[in-house]
Amino acid sequence: MASPRRRYGPAARVLFTLLDLLYRRSRTLSKFKVLEVVARVPYQAWENVAYVAVTHRYSRPTFARRIFERVHESWEQQDNEQWHLLILEELVEASGKRESFLRYRVVPQALAFAYYQLSWLLYALNPRWSYGLNADFEDHAEHEYALFVHETPELENRPYDGLFVDEYGHYESVADLFRQIGHDERVHKQESLDRMDEPRFI
Ligand SMILES: [Fe+2]
Ligand SMILES: [Fe+2]
Repeated sequence: MASPRRRYGPAARVLFTLLDLLYRRSRTLSKFKVLEVVARVPYQAWENVAYVAVTHRYSRPTFARRIFERVHESWEQQDNEQWHLLILEELVEASGKRESFLRYRVVPQALAFAYYQLSWLLYALNPRWSYGLNADFEDHAEHEYALFVHETPELENRPYDGLFVDEYGHYESVADLFRQIGHDERVHKQESLDRMDEPRFI
């Protein structure tokens, strides 16, 4: 809550405005689910570019190994975002809210598809640009989760005993669960920022 938001770049600002227009500014479980559908795709795009790079550079094994280490990292982050998505789906279902198929299935898929293409292209042109966009996205997610916990105090008294405790961990309350998810977003942001300062490897 106390940390200032990043100065978001133009692509991130367009995306956040679009999300606010489509899903309103208020923070809801359904809107977070849309965020999580989109959140996974940069990691999928980077994985894809890295595999293509290995195809071209396998004649230099040490270099190819470095690229492959990045593929592994992308898997971990993708898995982490996957748990966020599944947990949110579970919480929305438990809330009994009925979601429109068009707004909450079709449109998020279209957004994710466009965001994948953009992340892929930026990464292929200059990985720094793609990492910067992802850092903006993760920073936004981190702050939105923190605000959500802050403005929904009843989450403190709601125990979390969901389907994914074995994989994602046990949390005393749904508030703690969201604090952990927000913290994950911070870690993702930091990882992208760390990568931005490294020399190009593809
Ligand atoms: Fe996430
Ligand atoms: Fe994230």
